[in-house]
Amino acid sequence: MTSNTDTDILAIETSCDETAAAVVRNGREILSSTIYTQIAMHTVYGGVVPELASRKHIEKINAVIEKALADAGLALDDIDAVAVTYGPGLVGALLVGVAEAKAIAWASRKPLIGVNHIEGHIAANYIEHPDLEPPYLCLVVSGGHTHLVVVRDWAEFEILGRTVDDAAGEAFDKVARAIGLGYPGGPKIDAAAKAGNAEAITFPKAKVNGSAYDFSFSGLKSAVLNYLNHAEMTGETVSPDDLAASFQKAVVDVLCEHTMLAAEECGIDRIALAGGVSANSALRTSMERACESRGMKFYVPSPVYCTDNAAMIGVAAWHEMRAGRFSGWDLNAVPGLKLGER
Ligand code: KG4
Ligand code: ZN
Repeated sequence: MTSNTDTDILAIETSCDETAAAVVRNGREILSSTIYTQIAMHTVYGGVVPELASRKHIEKINAVIEKALADAGLALDDIDAVAVTYGPGLVGALLVGVAEAKAIAWASRKPLIGVNHIEGHIAANYIEHPDLEPPYLCLVVSGGHTHLVVVRDWAEFEILGRTVDDAAGEAFDKVARAIGLGYPGGPKIDAAAKAGNAEAITFPKAKVNGSAYDFSFSGLKSAVLNYLNHAEMTGETVSPDDLAASFQKAVVDVLCEHTMLAAEECGIDRIALAGGVSANSALRTSMERACESRGMKFYVPSPVYCTDNAAMIGVAAWHEMRAGRFSGWDLNAVPGLKLGER
């Protein structure tokens, strides 16, 4: 039952290869979260094919929204606002969600709320951690972004560091392809690494000129490729599990080191993780240990809220709504939208 004081938001997410819808009550309670993953379709091509992603979104979006409403036990009339990811992401994929949300909001006379996908990932932390409030430090690691951010206020972000080349998730995906583990790389490397020895191969730590908090992963990717080429030339056998574990350790170590350095230098003792790569078991464990040993509080969403979903978009939308920020009928997809940008 919807009480008069409840605010129920229907949220839509189609920025990449998941067609997702959710109903979120009062910014924290997930009444439903439906995700249609296109992974099987893209696996054949070894990565996301943007045009196929858009076409699949348009095919699935209505059924996904219908299921989200049914699971929540609500009709469209009960919904207070319609939220949608409008960037960053694949333009054709974003446009499907934006057009759908506009059509629903317009036809049902509900307010429309455009949400920044990266802010959605950060907001995923509020779902299961009601005590988490700004300010805190958040490491955002996804397929397209790697940001070390101070969340100063609900919609105020200070970026301390970012990747100067590949995103962390991109590095996982590229290395998985090179080792022959296939797509999607992150979960495959995570699983293979469990059977491997992380100390087997020492990969160099990337040095970045500029901010001490910036990241670089393309050198590490090259080091893995060089290692494989060298092994092939000399006839050495390579254990994919050891390679996966050693590569993963190199990524996790640098992510943890920079985060701890930033936390200590900024005097922040609450650390959160966000984005698809925060589903990584080694990263979750290492970051938790690093925080514990320094007396810092550690927050991370459940894996299902780390990778793309619409529940996190509904949570972020609720904070937009509270601040009185709504979108006009001219809302458009912004594929290169930056964190904190409106
Ligand atoms: O946040 P997300 O679902 O989509 C973007 O906004 O990019 O992140 C997807 C990325 C992919 O690169 C995927 O390989 C990575 O997150 N990922 C993981 C794991 N699960 C997903 N990386 C490492 N370990 C995982 N368990
Ligand atoms: Zn994402």
